[in-house]
Amino acid sequence: MAHAELAFPEGAAADWTVPQDWAAYTPEEHAMWDRLFERQAAMLPGRVVPEFLEGLDILRMTRPGIPDFAELSERLMKRTGWQVVAVPGLVPDRVFFEHLANRRFVAGRFIRKPEQIDYLQEPDVFHDVFGHVPLLTHPAFADYMQAYGEGGLRADHMGAIDHLARLYWYTVEFGLMRRDGDLRLYGAGIVSSFGESVFALDDASPNRIGFDLKRLMRTEYRIDDYQQSYFVIDSFEDLLAKTADVDFGPVYRELEGESDLAPDAVAAGDRVYHRGTQDYARA
Ligand code: PHE
Ligand code: FE
Repeated sequence: MAHAELAFPEGAAADWTVPQDWAAYTPEEHAMWDRLFERQAAMLPGRVVPEFLEGLDILRMTRPGIPDFAELSERLMKRTGWQVVAVPGLVPDRVFFEHLANRRFVAGRFIRKPEQIDYLQEPDVFHDVFGHVPLLTHPAFADYMQAYGEGGLRADHMGAIDHLARLYWYTVEFGLMRRDGDLRLYGAGIVSSFGESVFALDDASPNRIGFDLKRLMRTEYRIDDYQQSYFVIDSFEDLLAKTADVDFGPVYRELEGESDLAPDAVAAGDRVYHRGTQDYARA
């Protein structure tokens, strides 16, 4: 994700990218990736959308070790025209949007330390690459991410970045999809998290509510713990149709007159798949 006020990293290119420097990873760092990968790979079949697992295969991410971004980019480029580029940490919103609009996904290159295996403040290479990159092989999702970048540049001019950021949060990071009467995971923040991969689907605590653009843009989110509400799309094609083909300008203007909703709210008109007990959040 992006952030507003950040110091320009010394030695980075004008677009804030740096070389991944793949050869500099230590055996311990590769082993950390393998440990995280094995844990998620064992858990995700039957829980994640199948396109995610197909993406891992297409990109040969099932091989051990931290992936080389150059190799990932070569395979992705053939498939959907995307690339993966390294950045030292969070980047400003405009830089982030500009990369997405040009089909470049910015990824952190560092990997978490063993004591951070379950909790991490800044996205590392495991979250960014394992979580986000496989679905960039899917044509509709790939188009959605580019459209989001273009939409971000527009939202910036309209003073609407906060509303647009909620869309990213509740789809790209924490989205669920309805599949053959079941719910499946696709959000990167969920699929890269051992705990949330179970919680988001199986726990009685969080709400699971059908995707509605304006509703979702009104909803606050928490960055410090599991989500209190998840939003459910019908397909990536449907998500694309409900966003890329819609002019958000009038939506932002309507939102100015409306109040925000709390992360645990259930609102009139919601399509409720599961009404959460919120027991986890209260405990
Ligand atoms: N259609 C949106 C706009 O008018 C852009 C967008 C597309 C935003 C897809 C998010 C996702 O700004
Ligand atoms: Fe992320």
